[in-house]
Amino acid sequence: MKRFGGVSAAGGIAIAIVALWLAPARATDQDRLDQIDFPVRTVTVVVPFARGGPTDTVARLIAVEMAKTLGQPIEIENILGAGGTLAATRVAHATPDGHTLIVGHMGTHGSAAALSPKLGYRPDKDFEPVALLAEMPVLLLARRDFPPKDMTEFKTFVKSHTDNINVAHAGFGSVSYASCLLLDRLLGVDPTAVPFSGTGPAMQALIDGQVDYMCDQIVNAVPALREDKIKAYVIASAERDSAVPQVPTAAEAGVPGFRIAAWTGLFAPRGTPEPIVAKLNAAVSRALDQSEVRTRLTDLGGIVPGPEQRSPVVLAQLVHDEITRWGSVAKGSTP
Ligand code: MLT
Repeated sequence: MKRFGGVSAAGGIAIAIVALWLAPARATDQDRLDQIDFPVRTVTVVVPFARGGPTDTVARLIAVEMAKTLGQPIEIENILGAGGTLAATRVAHATPDGHTLIVGHMGTHGSAAALSPKLGYRPDKDFEPVALLAEMPVLLLARRDFPPKDMTEFKTFVKSHTDNINVAHAGFGSVSYASCLLLDRLLGVDPTAVPFSGTGPAMQALIDGQVDYMCDQIVNAVPALREDKIKAYVIASAERDSAVPQVPTAAEAGVPGFRIAAWTGLFAPRGTPEPIVAKLNAAVSRALDQSEVRTRLTDLGGIVPGPEQRSPVVLAQLVHDEITRWGSVAKGSTP
């Protein structure tokens, strides 16, 4: 899973030498960024889901540090609805001056586009990717008293009780929706999907026992798992995660095809000038290097992108790959 993990010892030395060599150029780059007259007022970062969920958590964590670098306040605006696509449509049509941004993810900029062809925006054409913020393993979670003890029992139980089972998600095309859609396909089940405005409120419904299970990003699951308020059957990754080491991988749990690499990234409307994107990118990168941010994200199971994963090009490629991957799920296959 550590797709954005570290470098080998030899690679580390090579990077250190290159970094020394580049040091004067970096200073010049910083001077260039400092001269850009941006931002000139409060920057609005739109979160396309409810407060308290994984997207909101990452956005708020990074925005605090970005505001310090940029020298202007950052306001988080939660715009809810339609699996995050309402907010993405709004930002796609905002003035491209860097003062309105969106924290998008594998859903708004990948699976949503593949699963709903009639979106009001094109994730790969209507935005300037700024930077990847985090990678998020996905877990299959259930209410604490959901009867199956492990994934083998889960498969049998859900198959035989499909009509009476409710699965929470954050709207059509969202990460939670797409992840459990893939699981349904793999298990050959069709439970009732119950939409919420984000997996923040969906998690509360799971804790309260109002829904049976959901597929959610790790940062939203770890606090409730640590307090034993819910349970986890599987992490949809190749490796276990140190934040929840007791949770088996997809292969260990007998569902090797259940592999999701969710991610969260910052996007600006298309046409935002390159120097502004570069200044925002540098502010994200600095935020990701702050120990408060790294410690908090890692503690919750999130993966902090390495320096080589923070360019707009990497984020653009992720968007492209995700649309392709979920396109084949939309056609009924299980990639
Ligand atoms: C999702 O399922 O897409 C997210 O978990 C939504 C959220 O951040 O609440």
